[in-house]
Amino acid sequence: MQHEKVEKNLGLMTILIVIAVSFGGLVEIVPLFFIKDTTEPTASLEPYSATELAGRDIYIREGCNVCHTQMIRPLRAEVERYGHYSVAGEYYYDYPHLWGSKRTGPDLHRVGGRYSDEWHKQHLYDPRSVVPESNMPAFPWLFEQTIDGEVVAKKMAALDRWTNVSYTEAELAGAAAEVDGVREIDALVAYLQRLGSGLERQ
Ligand code: HEC
Repeated sequence: MQHEKVEKNLGLMTILIVIAVSFGGLVEIVPLFFIKDTTEPTASLEPYSATELAGRDIYIREGCNVCHTQMIRPLRAEVERYGHYSVAGEYYYDYPHLWGSKRTGPDLHRVGGRYSDEWHKQHLYDPRSVVPESNMPAFPWLFEQTIDGEVVAKKMAALDRWTNVSYTEAELAGAAAEVDGVREIDALVAYLQRLGSGLERQ
């Protein structure tokens, strides 16, 4: 008869459902906060340099993450195609993470070092000149626009203050000069080339 009480009382049933569902969630999620593998950066992972960070912002601005994931799942087909599956510690310095959810193009989590800088530039300028069947858009304006170093320096200081990321005084002081006036394409390629550096290359 207890059951009938719950079934006939919408408020009570709602509360009990919420408790049941959140308990299920907690059992799965809370232990992850205490496992070192998921809360520490991988051994070879470094925070983004000023140039890489600027490149990452361009990646976000241009919506690269709308067509490309950065999340290799532990499935045989993906590991054979892209390399070692992604591990949690590799995302330690990512604000925001760029896992993505749609794969119009290939996953990019291990694309660093796979192609030369020149290949990337040609591909971003005119994708069909290197991959004839490509339906990726061209990004020619990246070759004309340059980066404002002050903005990147402020962003690094904010990351250093509010997140897991920590930079040395020298890195923060030198950030603006490192990246000021660099072409957007060069910063973006620097970012692409470091993807996957959180794990030793296979
Ligand atoms: C409309 C979807 C779309 C957008 C937006 C897009 N791409 Fe692509 N990308 C693709 C497709 C499809 C391919 C596969 C064909 C090719 O290589 O051109 C690809 C391939 C690539 C490759 C080669 C990957 C490999 O392993 O061969 C890189 C690198 C890349 N894109 C980078 C970028 C960057 C950086 C941006 C943002 C500036 C971007 N893409 C935006 C669809 C997209």
